[in-house]
Amino acid sequence: MSGIDVIYLDNAATSFPKPPEVAEAILEFLTHKAGNPGRSGHSLAVAADAVVAETRRSLASLLGVRDPSRLVFTLNGTAALNLAMYGLLRPGDRVVTTSMEHNSVARPLFALAERGVDVIWLPCAQDGSLDLEDLDRALRAAPTRLVAMTHASNVCGTILPIGAAAELAHRHGALLLVDAAQTAGVLPIDVTEQSIDLLAFPGHKGLLGPTGTGALYVAPGVHLTPMQQGGTGTHSELLSQPDELPFALEAGTVNTVGIAGLSAALRVLKATGIEAVRAREASLVERLLEGLQEIRGVTVHGPLDSAQRVAVVSVILHGWEPVDVGAALDSAFGIAVRPGLHCAPLAHRTLGTFPLGTVRLAPGYSTTDDEIDQALVALRELSLSAG
Ligand SMILES: Cc1ncc(COP(=O)(O)O)c(C=O)c1O
Repeated sequence: MSGIDVIYLDNAATSFPKPPEVAEAILEFLTHKAGNPGRSGHSLAVAADAVVAETRRSLASLLGVRDPSRLVFTLNGTAALNLAMYGLLRPGDRVVTTSMEHNSVARPLFALAERGVDVIWLPCAQDGSLDLEDLDRALRAAPTRLVAMTHASNVCGTILPIGAAAELAHRHGALLLVDAAQTAGVLPIDVTEQSIDLLAFPGHKGLLGPTGTGALYVAPGVHLTPMQQGGTGTHSELLSQPDELPFALEAGTVNTVGIAGLSAALRVLKATGIEAVRAREASLVERLLEGLQEIRGVTVHGPLDSAQRVAVVSVILHGWEPVDVGAALDSAFGIAVRPGLHCAPLAHRTLGTFPLGTVRLAPGYSTTDDEIDQALVALRELSLSAG
Protein backbone atom coordinates (compact mmCIF):
# COMPACT_ATOMS: atom_id res chain seq x y z
CA MET A 1 0.00 0.00 0.00
CA SER A 2 1.19 3.45 -0.83
CA GLY A 3 0.45 5.74 2.11
CA ILE A 4 -3.25 6.10 1.44
CA ASP A 5 -5.66 3.21 1.28
CA VAL A 6 -5.37 2.46 -2.41
CA ILE A 7 -3.31 0.18 -4.61
CA TYR A 8 -1.97 2.70 -7.08
CA LEU A 9 -1.36 1.23 -10.54
CA ASP A 10 -1.61 4.48 -12.52
CA ASN A 11 2.06 5.50 -12.57
CA ALA A 12 1.94 6.03 -16.33
CA ALA A 13 -0.34 9.02 -15.69
CA THR A 14 1.72 10.37 -12.82
CA SER A 15 3.89 8.58 -10.28
CA PHE A 16 2.58 8.05 -6.77
CA PRO A 17 3.59 8.02 -4.01
CA LYS A 18 6.36 10.58 -4.45
CA PRO A 19 9.39 10.02 -2.22
CA PRO A 20 8.78 11.88 1.09
CA GLU A 21 11.86 13.97 0.32
CA VAL A 22 9.86 15.72 -2.44
CA ALA A 23 7.26 17.22 -0.11
CA GLU A 24 10.02 18.04 2.41
CA ALA A 25 12.02 19.91 -0.24
CA ILE A 26 8.93 21.85 -1.36
CA LEU A 27 8.20 22.91 2.22
CA GLU A 28 11.85 23.84 2.79
CA PHE A 29 11.88 25.86 -0.45
CA LEU A 30 8.65 27.73 0.32
CA THR A 31 9.79 28.43 3.86
CA HIS A 32 13.40 29.43 3.29
CA LYS A 33 14.29 29.95 -0.38
CA ALA A 34 11.30 31.17 -2.35
CA GLY A 35 12.77 34.20 -4.12
CA ASN A 36 12.63 34.66 -7.88
CA PRO A 37 15.66 32.94 -9.44
CA GLY A 38 18.03 35.09 -11.46
CA ARG A 39 15.95 38.24 -10.95
CA SER A 40 17.77 39.89 -8.00
CA GLY A 41 20.96 39.67 -5.98
CA HIS A 42 19.36 39.18 -2.57
CA SER A 43 19.76 35.99 -0.63
CA LEU A 44 16.34 34.50 -1.38
CA ALA A 45 16.74 35.07 -5.14
CA VAL A 46 20.22 33.55 -5.00
CA ALA A 47 18.93 30.56 -3.01
CA ALA A 48 16.13 29.95 -5.53
CA ASP A 49 18.57 30.30 -8.43
CA ALA A 50 20.86 27.74 -6.82
CA VAL A 51 17.99 25.22 -6.59
CA VAL A 52 17.05 25.71 -10.25
CA ALA A 53 20.68 25.44 -11.37
CA GLU A 54 21.28 22.33 -9.27
CA THR A 55 18.18 20.65 -10.71
CA ARG A 56 19.34 21.44 -14.23
CA ARG A 57 22.72 19.88 -13.43
CA SER A 58 21.10 16.78 -11.93
CA LEU A 59 18.91 16.29 -15.01
CA ALA A 60 21.94 16.79 -17.24
CA SER A 61 23.92 14.19 -15.37
CA LEU A 62 21.00 11.70 -15.46
CA LEU A 63 20.40 12.09 -19.19
CA GLY A 64 23.92 12.45 -20.57
CA VAL A 65 23.51 16.15 -21.36
CA ARG A 66 26.96 17.79 -21.53
CA ASP A 67 25.78 21.40 -21.14
CA PRO A 68 22.96 21.81 -18.56
CA SER A 69 21.92 25.15 -20.09
CA ARG A 70 20.54 23.16 -23.03
CA LEU A 71 17.80 21.85 -20.73
CA VAL A 72 14.78 24.15 -20.74
CA PHE A 73 12.22 23.82 -17.95
CA THR A 74 8.59 23.47 -18.99
CA LEU A 75 5.35 22.81 -17.12
CA ASN A 76 4.93 19.20 -18.33
CA GLY A 77 5.83 16.80 -21.12
CA THR A 78 3.22 18.29 -23.44
CA ALA A 79 4.68 21.81 -23.21
CA ALA A 80 8.15 20.43 -23.99
CA LEU A 81 6.84 18.55 -27.04
CA ASN A 82 4.95 21.60 -28.31
CA LEU A 83 8.02 23.78 -27.87
CA ALA A 84 10.10 21.31 -29.87
CA MET A 85 7.66 20.91 -32.75
CA TYR A 86 6.31 24.46 -33.06
CA GLY A 87 9.80 25.83 -32.45
CA LEU A 88 11.32 23.77 -35.24
CA LEU A 89 8.76 23.12 -37.96
CA ARG A 90 7.74 25.48 -40.76
CA PRO A 91 5.23 25.08 -43.60
CA GLY A 92 6.74 22.79 -46.24
CA ASP A 93 8.77 20.82 -43.68
CA ARG A 94 8.28 17.06 -43.62
CA VAL A 95 7.92 15.03 -40.39
CA VAL A 96 7.88 11.29 -39.96
CA THR A 97 6.12 9.97 -36.87
CA THR A 98 4.49 6.74 -35.68
CA SER A 99 1.04 5.38 -35.05
CA MET A 100 1.88 4.83 -31.37
CA GLU A 101 2.07 8.49 -30.43
CA HIS A 102 0.29 10.11 -27.52
CA ASN A 103 -1.96 13.05 -28.38
CA SER A 104 0.75 15.36 -27.06
CA VAL A 105 2.69 14.50 -30.22
CA ALA A 106 -0.22 13.66 -32.51
CA ARG A 107 -2.35 16.75 -31.89
CA PRO A 108 0.41 19.34 -32.42
CA LEU A 109 1.41 17.48 -35.60
CA PHE A 110 -2.21 17.35 -36.76
CA ALA A 111 -2.47 21.11 -36.18
CA LEU A 112 0.88 21.74 -37.89
CA ALA A 113 -0.31 19.67 -40.89
CA GLU A 114 -3.15 22.16 -41.26
CA ARG A 115 -0.49 24.89 -41.48
CA GLY A 116 1.34 23.16 -44.31
CA VAL A 117 3.69 20.73 -42.54
CA ASP A 118 3.76 17.36 -44.30
CA VAL A 119 3.22 14.64 -41.67
CA ILE A 120 3.89 10.97 -42.46
CA TRP A 121 2.33 8.50 -40.02
CA LEU A 122 4.21 5.18 -39.91
CA PRO A 123 1.94 2.29 -38.93
CA CYS A 124 3.39 0.18 -36.11
CA ALA A 125 2.71 -3.55 -35.61
CA GLN A 126 -0.09 -4.83 -33.40
CA ASP A 127 2.30 -5.20 -30.47
CA GLY A 128 3.26 -1.53 -30.82
CA SER A 129 6.67 -2.18 -32.37
CA LEU A 130 8.15 -0.13 -35.21
CA ASP A 131 9.81 -1.72 -38.23
CA LEU A 132 12.99 0.25 -38.88
CA GLU A 133 12.77 -0.61 -42.56
CA ASP A 134 9.52 1.34 -42.71
CA LEU A 135 11.28 4.30 -41.16
CA ASP A 136 14.18 3.97 -43.57
CA ARG A 137 11.79 3.81 -46.54
CA ALA A 138 9.89 6.88 -45.36
CA LEU A 139 13.14 8.82 -44.93
CA ARG A 140 14.39 7.83 -48.37
CA ALA A 141 11.16 8.99 -49.99
CA ALA A 142 11.71 12.74 -49.48
CA PRO A 143 13.88 15.18 -47.51
CA THR A 144 12.68 15.18 -43.91
CA ARG A 145 13.21 17.76 -41.16
CA LEU A 146 12.17 15.69 -38.16
CA VAL A 147 11.47 12.20 -36.92
CA ALA A 148 9.18 12.47 -33.87
CA MET A 149 8.60 9.34 -31.83
CA THR A 150 7.77 8.04 -28.43
CA HIS A 151 10.44 6.11 -26.55
CA ALA A 152 7.84 3.77 -25.06
CA SER A 153 4.11 3.47 -25.57
CA ASN A 154 1.92 4.83 -22.80
CA VAL A 155 -0.72 2.28 -23.83
CA CYS A 156 1.07 -1.07 -24.01
CA GLY A 157 4.61 -0.26 -22.85
CA THR A 158 6.41 -1.24 -26.07
CA ILE A 159 9.91 0.30 -26.29
CA LEU A 160 10.76 1.86 -29.65
CA PRO A 161 14.35 1.74 -30.98
CA ILE A 162 15.37 5.37 -30.56
CA GLY A 163 19.11 4.78 -30.97
CA ALA A 164 18.63 3.16 -34.39
CA ALA A 165 16.04 5.78 -35.31
CA ALA A 166 18.57 8.54 -34.52
CA GLU A 167 21.12 6.90 -36.80
CA LEU A 168 18.62 6.60 -39.65
CA ALA A 169 17.29 10.12 -39.15
CA HIS A 170 20.79 11.61 -39.23
CA ARG A 171 21.81 9.54 -42.26
CA HIS A 172 18.93 11.18 -44.11
CA GLY A 173 19.55 14.70 -42.77
CA ALA A 174 16.65 14.71 -40.28
CA LEU A 175 16.61 15.50 -36.56
CA LEU A 176 15.16 13.16 -33.91
CA LEU A 177 12.64 14.27 -31.28
CA VAL A 178 12.03 11.67 -28.56
CA ASP A 179 8.98 11.73 -26.30
CA ALA A 180 10.45 10.26 -23.12
CA ALA A 181 7.29 10.66 -21.05
CA GLN A 182 7.23 6.96 -20.16
CA THR A 183 10.97 6.37 -19.96
CA ALA A 184 12.74 9.27 -18.25
CA GLY A 185 13.72 7.91 -14.86
CA VAL A 186 12.96 4.27 -15.70
CA LEU A 187 15.18 3.46 -18.71
CA PRO A 188 18.78 4.58 -19.14
CA ILE A 189 18.88 7.54 -21.56
CA ASP A 190 22.05 9.26 -22.78
CA VAL A 191 21.22 11.97 -25.30
CA THR A 192 24.87 12.34 -26.28
CA GLU A 193 25.59 8.63 -26.82
CA GLN A 194 22.23 8.02 -28.45
CA SER A 195 22.52 11.19 -30.61
CA ILE A 196 19.11 12.52 -29.61
CA ASP A 197 18.48 16.04 -30.88
CA LEU A 198 15.41 16.88 -28.85
CA LEU A 199 14.26 15.03 -25.73
CA ALA A 200 10.95 16.01 -24.13
CA PHE A 201 9.92 14.67 -20.74
CA PRO A 202 7.73 15.41 -17.73
CA GLY A 203 9.16 15.61 -14.22
CA HIS A 204 6.07 14.07 -12.61
CA LYS A 205 6.15 10.51 -13.92
CA GLY A 206 9.27 8.30 -13.73
CA LEU A 207 11.39 11.17 -12.44
CA LEU A 208 9.15 11.13 -9.32
CA GLY A 209 8.82 14.91 -9.11
CA PRO A 210 5.67 16.98 -8.65
CA THR A 211 3.23 17.96 -11.39
CA GLY A 212 3.98 21.26 -13.10
CA THR A 213 7.49 20.14 -14.02
CA GLY A 214 9.04 18.97 -17.27
CA ALA A 215 11.88 19.87 -19.59
CA LEU A 216 13.11 19.87 -23.15
CA TYR A 217 16.70 19.05 -24.09
CA VAL A 218 17.91 20.85 -27.20
CA ALA A 219 21.12 19.54 -28.79
CA PRO A 220 23.91 21.93 -29.80
CA GLY A 221 23.29 23.33 -33.26
CA VAL A 222 19.50 22.91 -33.08
CA HIS A 223 17.72 26.25 -33.15
CA LEU A 224 14.13 26.58 -31.95
CA THR A 225 11.98 29.68 -32.31
CA PRO A 226 10.62 30.64 -28.88
CA MET A 227 6.89 30.20 -28.36
CA GLN A 228 6.87 33.00 -25.80
CA GLN A 229 8.89 36.14 -25.25
CA GLY A 230 9.31 37.80 -21.88
CA GLY A 231 11.43 38.43 -18.83
CA THR A 232 14.47 36.26 -18.22
CA GLY A 233 16.43 38.34 -15.71
CA THR A 234 19.19 38.59 -18.34
CA HIS A 235 19.89 41.30 -20.98
CA SER A 236 17.01 43.34 -19.61
CA GLU A 237 18.12 46.32 -21.72
CA LEU A 238 17.11 44.44 -24.89
CA LEU A 239 13.58 44.30 -26.27
CA SER A 240 14.38 41.16 -28.20
CA GLN A 241 14.48 37.74 -26.54
CA PRO A 242 18.05 36.76 -25.57
CA ASP A 243 19.55 34.11 -27.83
CA GLU A 244 21.30 31.98 -25.25
CA LEU A 245 19.74 28.91 -23.69
CA PRO A 246 17.94 28.24 -21.48
CA PHE A 247 16.63 31.84 -21.40
CA ALA A 248 15.81 31.98 -25.12
CA LEU A 249 13.12 29.36 -24.49
CA GLU A 250 12.37 29.97 -20.82
CA ALA A 251 10.60 33.34 -20.59
CA GLY A 252 8.91 34.14 -17.27
CA THR A 253 9.35 32.69 -13.82
CA VAL A 254 9.83 28.93 -13.84
CA ASN A 255 7.98 26.64 -11.42
CA THR A 256 10.57 27.02 -8.69
CA VAL A 257 8.48 25.18 -6.10
CA GLY A 258 8.00 22.20 -8.40
CA ILE A 259 11.64 22.28 -9.45
CA ALA A 260 12.70 22.15 -5.79
CA GLY A 261 10.58 19.00 -5.42
CA LEU A 262 11.99 17.56 -8.62
CA SER A 263 15.51 18.21 -7.36
CA ALA A 264 14.85 16.10 -4.28
CA ALA A 265 13.26 13.37 -6.42
CA LEU A 266 16.37 13.30 -8.63
CA ARG A 267 18.60 12.86 -5.58
CA VAL A 268 16.51 9.87 -4.51
CA LEU A 269 16.63 8.45 -8.04
CA LYS A 270 20.39 8.89 -8.20
CA ALA A 271 20.84 7.11 -4.88
CA THR A 272 18.58 4.28 -6.08
CA GLY A 273 20.08 4.03 -9.57
CA ILE A 274 18.16 3.76 -12.86
CA GLU A 275 19.34 0.17 -13.29
CA ALA A 276 17.75 -0.79 -9.96
CA VAL A 277 14.51 0.97 -10.95
CA ARG A 278 14.50 -0.81 -14.31
CA ALA A 279 15.19 -4.21 -12.70
CA ARG A 280 12.47 -3.76 -10.09
CA GLU A 281 9.88 -2.63 -12.62
CA ALA A 282 10.79 -5.51 -14.95
CA SER A 283 10.28 -7.96 -12.11
CA LEU A 284 6.86 -6.46 -11.28
CA VAL A 285 5.86 -6.63 -14.94
CA GLU A 286 6.94 -10.27 -15.21
CA ARG A 287 4.88 -11.15 -12.15
CA LEU A 288 1.90 -9.26 -13.55
CA LEU A 289 2.18 -10.74 -17.05
CA GLU A 290 2.55 -14.28 -15.73
CA GLY A 291 -0.50 -13.90 -13.54
CA LEU A 292 -2.57 -12.29 -16.28
CA GLN A 293 -1.85 -15.11 -18.68
CA GLU A 294 -3.34 -17.54 -16.17
CA ILE A 295 -6.67 -15.71 -16.05
CA ARG A 296 -9.19 -16.96 -18.59
CA GLY A 297 -10.81 -14.21 -20.60
CA VAL A 298 -7.90 -11.73 -20.29
CA THR A 299 -6.04 -10.50 -23.37
CA VAL A 300 -2.74 -8.74 -22.80
CA HIS A 301 -1.57 -6.18 -25.38
CA GLY A 302 2.06 -5.42 -26.10
CA PRO A 303 5.17 -7.61 -25.87
CA LEU A 304 5.29 -10.40 -23.28
CA ASP A 305 9.06 -10.07 -22.94
CA SER A 306 9.83 -7.58 -20.16
CA ALA A 307 13.04 -6.51 -21.92
CA GLN A 308 10.96 -5.05 -24.74
CA ARG A 309 8.62 -3.03 -22.60
CA VAL A 310 8.24 -0.63 -19.69
CA ALA A 311 5.87 -1.15 -16.78
CA VAL A 312 2.72 -0.17 -18.66
CA VAL A 313 0.42 -3.14 -19.22
CA SER A 314 -2.86 -2.97 -21.15
CA VAL A 315 -5.50 -5.65 -20.89
CA ILE A 316 -9.00 -6.43 -22.07
CA LEU A 317 -11.33 -8.48 -19.89
CA HIS A 318 -13.76 -10.28 -22.13
CA GLY A 319 -17.39 -9.53 -21.40
CA TRP A 320 -16.40 -6.26 -19.78
CA GLU A 321 -15.99 -2.71 -21.07
CA PRO A 322 -12.68 -1.25 -19.85
CA VAL A 323 -14.42 1.68 -18.17
CA ASP A 324 -16.51 -0.74 -16.06
CA VAL A 325 -13.42 -2.75 -15.08
CA GLY A 326 -11.75 0.49 -13.97
CA ALA A 327 -14.80 1.45 -11.90
CA ALA A 328 -15.13 -2.03 -10.37
CA LEU A 329 -11.42 -2.20 -9.46
CA ASP A 330 -11.71 1.20 -7.81
CA SER A 331 -14.97 0.73 -5.92
CA ALA A 332 -14.80 -2.94 -4.97
CA PHE A 333 -11.04 -3.48 -4.56
CA GLY A 334 -9.47 -0.04 -3.96
CA ILE A 335 -7.24 -0.44 -7.01
CA ALA A 336 -6.47 2.64 -9.15
CA VAL A 337 -5.92 1.90 -12.85
CA ARG A 338 -6.73 3.84 -16.00
CA PRO A 339 -9.33 2.56 -18.46
CA GLY A 340 -10.07 3.92 -21.93
CA LEU A 341 -7.94 5.44 -24.66
CA HIS A 342 -5.13 6.95 -22.54
CA CYS A 343 -4.94 10.06 -24.79
CA ALA A 344 -3.58 7.83 -27.56
CA PRO A 345 -6.36 6.97 -30.03
CA LEU A 346 -3.88 6.18 -32.82
CA ALA A 347 -2.13 3.65 -30.62
CA HIS A 348 -5.44 1.96 -29.83
CA ARG A 349 -6.27 1.81 -33.54
CA THR A 350 -2.87 0.13 -34.00
CA LEU A 351 -3.56 -2.43 -31.27
CA GLY A 352 -7.12 -2.99 -32.49
CA THR A 353 -8.61 -1.71 -29.23
CA PHE A 354 -10.27 1.47 -30.52
CA PRO A 355 -12.76 2.94 -29.51
CA LEU A 356 -13.29 1.33 -26.09
CA GLY A 357 -9.62 1.16 -25.23
CA THR A 358 -8.09 -1.08 -22.60
CA VAL A 359 -7.54 -1.29 -18.87
CA ARG A 360 -4.03 -0.02 -18.14
CA LEU A 361 -2.08 -1.26 -15.13
CA ALA A 362 1.07 0.73 -14.53
CA PRO A 363 3.08 -0.27 -11.45
CA GLY A 364 5.94 1.88 -10.25
CA TYR A 365 9.20 1.40 -8.37
CA SER A 366 7.44 1.35 -5.00
CA THR A 367 4.66 -1.05 -5.99
CA THR A 368 4.91 -4.27 -3.97
CA ASP A 369 4.62 -7.88 -5.15
CA ASP A 370 1.62 -8.19 -2.89
CA GLU A 371 -0.13 -5.30 -4.64
CA ILE A 372 0.40 -7.01 -7.99
CA ASP A 373 -1.03 -10.23 -6.52
CA GLN A 374 -4.06 -8.37 -5.18
CA ALA A 375 -4.68 -6.82 -8.59
CA LEU A 376 -4.50 -10.30 -10.13
CA VAL A 377 -6.97 -11.68 -7.57
CA ALA A 378 -9.35 -8.81 -8.34
CA LEU A 379 -9.11 -9.31 -12.11
CA ARG A 380 -9.64 -13.04 -11.70
CA GLU A 381 -12.77 -12.36 -9.68
CA LEU A 382 -14.09 -9.92 -12.26
CA SER A 383 -13.31 -12.35 -15.07
CA LEU A 384 -15.66 -14.87 -13.43
CA SER A 385 -18.61 -12.48 -13.55
CA ALA A 386 -19.92 -10.63 -16.57
CA GLY A 387 -19.58 -6.83 -16.79
C1 LIG B 1 3.79 9.08 -24.12
C2 LIG B 1 3.33 10.36 -23.49
N1 LIG B 1 3.66 11.53 -24.08
C3 LIG B 1 3.30 12.70 -23.54
C4 LIG B 1 2.58 12.77 -22.36
C5 LIG B 1 2.21 14.09 -21.82
O1 LIG B 1 2.86 14.36 -20.60
P1 LIG B 1 2.27 15.44 -19.60
O2 LIG B 1 1.05 14.85 -19.00
O3 LIG B 1 3.36 15.69 -18.62
O4 LIG B 1 1.96 16.66 -20.40
C6 LIG B 1 2.21 11.58 -21.72
C7 LIG B 1 1.40 11.60 -20.50
O5 LIG B 1 0.73 10.67 -20.15
C8 LIG B 1 2.61 10.35 -22.29
O6 LIG B 1 2.29 9.18 -21.71
